[in-house]
Amino acid sequence: MASSSPLLLLLLLLPLAAAAAAAAASLPPLPLSTASRWVVGADGRRVKLACANWASHLEPVAAEGLSRRGLGDIAARVAAMGFNCVRLTWPTYLATNATLANLPLRASLERLGMPESVAGVRVNNPGLLDLPLIDVFQEVVSALAKNNIMVILDNQMTTPGWCCSENDGNGFFGDKYFGPEEWLKGLSAMATMFRNTKNVVGMSLRNELRGSKNVSLWFRYMQLGAEVVHAANPGVLVILSGLNFDNTLDFLVPNQIQLTFTGKLVFEQHWYGFSDDGNWGSRNQNDACGMVVDFIKKKGLFILQQGWPLFFSEFGFDMSGTHVADNRYLTCFLTVAAEMDLDWAIWALQGSYYIREGTLAYDESYGLLSWDWCTARNPSFIKRINALQSPFQGPGLPNSHQPYNVIFHPLSGLCVLVKSSEALELGPCDKSNAWNYTKGYELILKQTGQCLQAKSVGENAKLGTSCSKSSSKWKLLSNSGMHVSTELTNNGTRVCLDASPDGNITTNQCKCLTVDPDCNPESQWFKIILSSKHIPGGTSILQLPSHGPWSPTSSS
Ligand SMILES: *[C@@H]1O[C@H](CO)[C@@H](O)[C@H](O)[C@H]1NC(C)=O
Ligand SMILES: *[C@@H]1O[C@H](CO)[C@@H](O)[C@H](O)[C@H]1NC(C)=O
Ligand SMILES: *[C@@H]1O[C@H](CO)[C@@H](O)[C@H](O)[C@H]1NC(C)=O
Ligand SMILES: *[C@@H]1O[C@H](CO)[C@@H](O)[C@H](O)[C@H]1NC(C)=O
Ligand SMILES: *[C@@H]1O[C@H](CO)[C@@H](O)[C@H](O)[C@H]1NC(C)=O
Repeated sequence: MASSSPLLLLLLLLPLAAAAAAAAASLPPLPLSTASRWVVGADGRRVKLACANWASHLEPVAAEGLSRRGLGDIAARVAAMGFNCVRLTWPTYLATNATLANLPLRASLERLGMPESVAGVRVNNPGLLDLPLIDVFQEVVSALAKNNIMVILDNQMTTPGWCCSENDGNGFFGDKYFGPEEWLKGLSAMATMFRNTKNVVGMSLRNELRGSKNVSLWFRYMQLGAEVVHAANPGVLVILSGLNFDNTLDFLVPNQIQLTFTGKLVFEQHWYGFSDDGNWGSRNQNDACGMVVDFIKKKGLFILQQGWPLFFSEFGFDMSGTHVADNRYLTCFLTVAAEMDLDWAIWALQGSYYIREGTLAYDESYGLLSWDWCTARNPSFIKRINALQSPFQGPGLPNSHQPYNVIFHPLSGLCVLVKSSEALELGPCDKSNAWNYTKGYELILKQTGQCLQAKSVGENAKLGTSCSKSSSKWKLLSNSGMHVSTELTNNGTRVCLDASPDGNITTNQCKCLTVDPDCNPESQWFKIILSSKHIPGGTSILQLPSHGPWSPTSSS
């Protein structure tokens, strides 16, 4: 912990007090550990990592945004957006180069020729301006702690600067700036520094290994790194990146990692739309999603079956909503995240950088926050991700039930709820009824035994009691498997479940099942997933409240 003068403390606390109401309810019982594929708290209950990446590894070696908003306000904002964790990035030199670590933030910004950033920090975080960079880093962790936000420290680079390229000398063990000795020293120093800091729950040992695909070196050094971190700080999860920019862990299929300790190992994988070979722009959306998900399963998701947690520690998209390929990728990603109930970290919190790749005040189009850090760049996305910020499954969920099905609609981030037997609608997944998607293709409401039925083209879907009718048998069509489809009883017309912009659940002609690369099927995309969350009180299907409309907005 950095030592602070009383005045500094006061300055830091003022904005915090105002924001306190927004803080996450509480930290889970710590430390975290693993139970097969789940991350769990000290009480054995699942803790789902719903994180935002916050960069602190670029040339200034300070968390981005301190020239734009008060640190306490930023931390409170993270909590208010529903995240319970931050993946905070750092360069090795922050931990191994004392000259750098002791450089005051002001001097770090001045040496890069950024007087405006200095002025911004003076206004928004005056107490931080003359602190050494390492103390600023600790203050960021501390501000997150005050908002009950967990922190995962991510070793992003050795040298401060934007990550990652094949030839930046930071890609793989033995590269120009990536000497294993220095790396291990840095990991150990960082792990030690935060040994008594409860909210530091994990360490990503190195971001996006790339370049060399030398698997034996991966094993040698990742095992060493994991041991060094664990020896210095046995409380933290050790999180290991795959190869090829963390796009693949497939080399773990024949090999097992050997560690002297158990219950702390997590793997991480990254998945961005731009890594998917242009498929999102050029293919039918069902075909693209089906194909890419198969690929992701082979490259990483198999880890879950092996009984390890897999943290999707970077995913992200252009928040403007105008990037068609990114929008398509995002909906597919959200579906997988719901189905597998993944732990994840979005890239990124920061709306802009002090400087990135030579550009001052660089705008982060993937940022949750706007360029000035004052508002959400895409408020509808914050709502859309909400259902994925709490667990559907896992050990010891409060009031946990026999698993049941929910019908998730990734375009809205909502689930299919029963309003009355004549009307279903989209609403919060927390309030979902308990469905059972049976071997006989019926979608049965567990409390009442009624089942989902199609009436006709363009009308609301409804509940019925004669579940053996053809219009009550729902098959999953297309290569995405996300069109939930049935045949009308009177004339055999095939229809698909659909959500109207005001959230009514209807049945319509199935759209874009294959071939057409331009057509957008997302209103008809549903994923039937498992949940064992608490079912809301009052099991009568007619007592469920009605919810406001959702509408596809700029993000969709
Ligand atoms: C340590 O950091 C300082 C300040 O950035 C830099 O001038 C110096 O070259 C670094 N030393 C090493 C050994 O990298
Ligand atoms: C991996 O690196 C080691 C040590 O440099 C070397 O002996 C080995 O041949 C390399 N393996 C491959 C497959 O390149
Ligand atoms: C659905 O019902 C079947 C038969 O009663 C049961 O075996 C299965 O576990 C149920 N599945 C879910 C998800 O509720
Ligand atoms: C089948 O019946 C539905 C009404 O239930 C109607 O909307 C649709 O046009 C009919 N299709 C054919 C091919 O007759
Ligand atoms: C949605 O359903 C309600 C009945 O629950 C109906 O009044 C309303 O007109 C429907 N909206 C659309 C667009 O069909």
